Amino acid sequence: MTTWPTAELHIHMEGTIEAGLLVELARRNDVRLPSYDPDVLTARYDFADLQSFLDVHYSNLAVLRTEQDFHDLASAYLRRAANAGVRRAEIFFDPQTHLGNGVPFEAVIGGFDAAIAEATQTTGISADLILCFLRDLGADAAMETLQAALPFRDSFIGVGLDSTEVGYPPSLFTEVYAKAAAEGLHRVAHAGEEGGPDYVLEALDLLKVERIDHGNRALEDPALVRRLRDERIPLTVCPLSNVALRTAPSDLAQHPLGAMIDAGLLVSINSDDPAYFGGDVAENYRAIESALSLDAAQLATLARNSFESAFATEHEKAAWI
Ligand code: HPA
Ligand code: ZN
Repeated sequence: MTTWPTAELHIHMEGTIEAGLLVELARRNDVRLPSYDPDVLTARYDFADLQSFLDVHYSNLAVLRTEQDFHDLASAYLRRAANAGVRRAEIFFDPQTHLGNGVPFEAVIGGFDAAIAEATQTTGISADLILCFLRDLGADAAMETLQAALPFRDSFIGVGLDSTEVGYPPSLFTEVYAKAAAEGLHRVAHAGEEGGPDYVLEALDLLKVERIDHGNRALEDPALVRRLRDERIPLTVCPLSNVALRTAPSDLAQHPLGAMIDAGLLVSINSDDPAYFGGDVAENYRAIESALSLDAAQLATLARNSFESAFATEHEKAAWI
């Protein structure tokens, strides 16, 4: 099977923390884990839904304390990503989690920036950061986070919205997204992972997002599907994540990606939180290739879609494809 050159547009930096690194950082910083055996830790990654994953995920992030830790996390991801065919990565991070753990912004951004510069130098990968707001912490906290991040404005290209979806509709974040737009930042949001098509509509109409992360439940609204197709609004789809969090059937052959392709939507393949969901972006391509019996032309279209959906100039994209 081919490893497709791709842009990875739906990847949470914190969700790339492999169990081996988790244990190493826990020892380095004297942080308690339920086990110090990576195999025992990964055996516990069995999730009923998004929230049961988020609970484990946020609790693990207590191991990240220093700029060096953030550097090591990003370096490990970027090295694996380059090997998996990723030419361009637009990487989410969740500063509120780290600020809540008493880690200053400087340590998070400093570590990530240094790792990205080194990886670009050694592998040629292009990468930028997208700052995500934790929707369950609410709109005021999101606005405070954006204000606190503005001194580091040159270190991220956009804002996103993640964490618990249902009960925290995009409409809550209209003001903070307007502020982000005024700062010249790109805008994306998780919508339609567990929330309904109305969340996707709100993200488009109120937050003015340029991409939808997941978007699976958009398929429930035919008028919305036509709009996504006609306006070529990118959906960043994460097949193995959807199976792991039970937002898609356990049989990948039933994954909504097939219907999205048939509807002519601009979909890309992504890994979301690869340390938890059983595979990097190349493994997501491979899984979907065999489950949906995709041919080389269809896979090439998915790879091309990822570059079309990226925040970059045509000139930059030409170098990656
Ligand atoms: N959904 C929402 N929040 C997240 C996810 C996700 O898939 N991964 C990490 N934070
Ligand atoms: Zn995600």
